[in-house]
Amino acid sequence: MEKIKAYNILTYGCQMNEHDSEKISWILDNMGYGSGNNNEECDLIIYNTCAIRKTAEEKIYGQLGALKALKRDRPDLIIGVCGCMMQKEEIVDTITSKFKHVDIIFGTNNIHKLPQLINNYKKTGETIIDIIEENREIDESLGAVRKYNFKAFVNITYGCNNFCTYCVVPHTRGRERSRKPEYIIKEIEELANHGYKEITLLGQNVNSYGKTFNNNYRFTNLLKDVNNIIRIERIRFMTSHPKDISKELINSYNELDKLCSHLHLPVQSGSNRILKKMNRKYTREDYLDIIRQVKEISPHITLTTDIIVGFPGETEEDFDETIKLVKEVEFDSAYTFLYSLREGTPAARFKNHIDYRTKHDRFQRLLDVLNPIGLEKNQNLLNKNVAVLVEDISSTNSNILNGRTLGGKLVHFKGDKDKIGNIVDVNITHAKTFTLEGTLT
Ligand code: 5AD
Ligand code: SF4
Repeated sequence: MEKIKAYNILTYGCQMNEHDSEKISWILDNMGYGSGNNNEECDLIIYNTCAIRKTAEEKIYGQLGALKALKRDRPDLIIGVCGCMMQKEEIVDTITSKFKHVDIIFGTNNIHKLPQLINNYKKTGETIIDIIEENREIDESLGAVRKYNFKAFVNITYGCNNFCTYCVVPHTRGRERSRKPEYIIKEIEELANHGYKEITLLGQNVNSYGKTFNNNYRFTNLLKDVNNIIRIERIRFMTSHPKDISKELINSYNELDKLCSHLHLPVQSGSNRILKKMNRKYTREDYLDIIRQVKEISPHITLTTDIIVGFPGETEEDFDETIKLVKEVEFDSAYTFLYSLREGTPAARFKNHIDYRTKHDRFQRLLDVLNPIGLEKNQNLLNKNVAVLVEDISSTNSNILNGRTLGGKLVHFKGDKDKIGNIVDVNITHAKTFTLEGTLT
């Protein structure tokens, strides 16, 4: 009997990519491959790439370079590269000229064609390149092999129409499309029937869900319908855009018992001048007003954000506005980024790009403000009992479990691995800047 061939998928970037990799796993399982542990043991290696910042791209080039020797030693090895980077022509050119050991290159819109691409490669031995600019039709035929059996990502929108001036996503993921509610609900009902408890609704901008429909069904309607699915206990969503946050959505935190008490709302900058140059379509006042309303409805909600430091033309005064906003909102945590020039985006052509040292200096000063606030927020949970969904065992200590609060905060506590997938009560005993520690009650 022929040995089952093994695959290894290496995923970079956001949850969208993570979930795409779960779909690729499903395709490969259906082709008779089995999942392997590392590149050395596998017959098929796929890199699912991210293009959001230059550093992400450089990492991939480094990884691909390192595969050259492996392919030389094992010519039967198949190497595939997919994801956002592949939607950029110049990157595909670089890969085909400098990384000739890559066998299959495919984009974000044609994952479903992978079996055909693998077979074509096997037949011809030639590098196969298959990139589709845009796919208006949503392919509903793909399943997913999910990493966890109690929490799942579910796509609700694909692509983005916002064209923030720094961002490649509208160029790599195409125009915004919403999945029909009946497909989403059916998928979540099936997950619930298989014991899944937590659903994260995924999209580049989930708040604008349904805007392309010719009826009034919108994101909050979807949230209500998901909330009605029995056995689902927690609903999250990712990511929101401040310009599309509605009063109904804010009220949902009050009305929907399963909606987790967490809002991730990328602000990017606290300066109106910079927000305008970023094409974000809201002001700092708009943002602060949303936060005020959210806190009114849900005073203990976890608030997180994304912030870019050193956008072209950012002055000390602009940066100061960001610092002031951070202090006013009191975020629990934030993803902070150094602005990274992305060729082909409008901001790449803006004047007054900020030098690396200034960017770094501001980045550090921003963390110096964010971190103590995050710590204080976590300290507010000391001696309290919180509901935690147990996710896995600590990678460094097999007696320690990792789980997440309703606010999405990571908690470490002693416990047995049979608790994984359950929601348990944990008493918080230690608070750190990024994590909590506690004991099972
Ligand atoms: N440079 C730095 N950060 C970026 N992001 C998107 N594009 C860039 C860029 N060119 C950040 C934004 C976004 C997050 C996913 O990545 O903050 O919300
Ligand atoms: Fe990029 Fe802006 Fe779309 Fe987010 S909303 S994916 S930052 S263009």
